[in-house]
Amino acid sequence: MISLIIPTYNERPCIAAVVDQAAAALAASGESFEIIVVDDSSPDGTGAEVQRLQAEGRAWLRLISRPRDLSTAVVTGWSQARGDLLACMDADFQHPPATLTAMVRRQRDADADVVIASRYAGAAHTGAAALRRVLTGAASAAAGLLLPGVLTGLTDPMSGFFLFRRSAVDLSALRPRGYKLLIEILARCRPPRVSEVPFTFARRQAGRSKAGAGVATQFLRQLLSLAAATGELRKMFRFGLVGLSGVVVNFAAFAAMRHWDAPLAPAAALAAALAIANNFAGNETFTFRAAAQADPGARAVVRRFFRFFAFSLIGLGLNTAAVAMLTPAIGWAPALTLGIGLASGWNFAANATLTWPAPAASRIRPRNAAVLAPEPLRMAAK
Ligand code: GDD
Ligand code: MN
Repeated sequence: MISLIIPTYNERPCIAAVVDQAAAALAASGESFEIIVVDDSSPDGTGAEVQRLQAEGRAWLRLISRPRDLSTAVVTGWSQARGDLLACMDADFQHPPATLTAMVRRQRDADADVVIASRYAGAAHTGAAALRRVLTGAASAAAGLLLPGVLTGLTDPMSGFFLFRRSAVDLSALRPRGYKLLIEILARCRPPRVSEVPFTFARRQAGRSKAGAGVATQFLRQLLSLAAATGELRKMFRFGLVGLSGVVVNFAAFAAMRHWDAPLAPAAALAAALAIANNFAGNETFTFRAAAQADPGARAVVRRFFRFFAFSLIGLGLNTAAVAMLTPAIGWAPALTLGIGLASGWNFAANATLTWPAPAASRIRPRNAAVLAPEPLRMAAK
């Protein structure tokens, strides 16, 4: 049985059509189902509208009414659901109900723990406004940086449209905050089998978005708390310490070479190369010690060094370009500082993901199967 949670706040205009279309899509998947609307005492009477729909004889429709608190609305619904598959969806037709059929089928076919309806997988595209696309892109970039490894291979970890196997997720481990429940599930429960189904994010049919200015701050705090829970924050801190030691090396070498009138670009390059050697040693023995120990042996170390070196060269390119372009305008020290900052962000993301990926044992839960590649959407036969 699948339980679909639809959180609502002032969604009266759409709710009847949304639940009926969702019910049709779930019925088409062949799975038994229930739909639980979690309404936070909407002043527009969404709850009363749902009661009216129930009175008309929709036995699969349930209503939970409560005071307003978006963060817990969906999890409250899941914890009172009867299904072994749990799902959630917006009540405004931004998430097309018909996609539910493909999601349930995909879960069955791929034996997936989580099925994400993705705005960016396959041929589907987002119908969202440009500003929203930019914000989503920035959010995904921040998540990729703060949670490297957790979201690898997923095109839309910010989606609010997904389903999962109840047994794969410990609901009590979630610390819901704001809108982004999916990354909460992915980061804290590490479900091994994740699959994506493409969909087109539509424009809202009625009402307006409840995502306000607070959402971005909430999201950043959620990311930080997840990064702390997964150990990424500690790695980042250590990477920063090692990076600082590299900065000292970089500054000292650069200042010395400038003192001897070495030309600008070669001096910057050589100083940064010395810093790279220093940083590899520090990261191998301190920042990513667990990953290094999980894959010992000279060949592995050499392979990591070349990876680290290649990423550092790209970072060096960013660094050198910044120094060369900005020194005439702002002087070499501020230019070098900016260049190092730019290179560091890139270096952490690339190395934490590809050079020293977290060994399975150190993860919150073992992640022993690869992310399943998204397959093209197969629409339900009507
Ligand atoms: N119960 C309850 N309480 N529901 C709420 C509340 C609340 O305080 N605030 C919003 N909702 C409901 C809305 O009625 C809607 O059904 C759903 O939650 C999503 O809210 P929207 O206002 O439509 O948010 P959005 O479209 O800007 O953001 C959505 O899309 C993102 C990208 O896919 C959400 O689904 C996000 O979770 C998702 O990340
Ligand atoms: Mn919406």
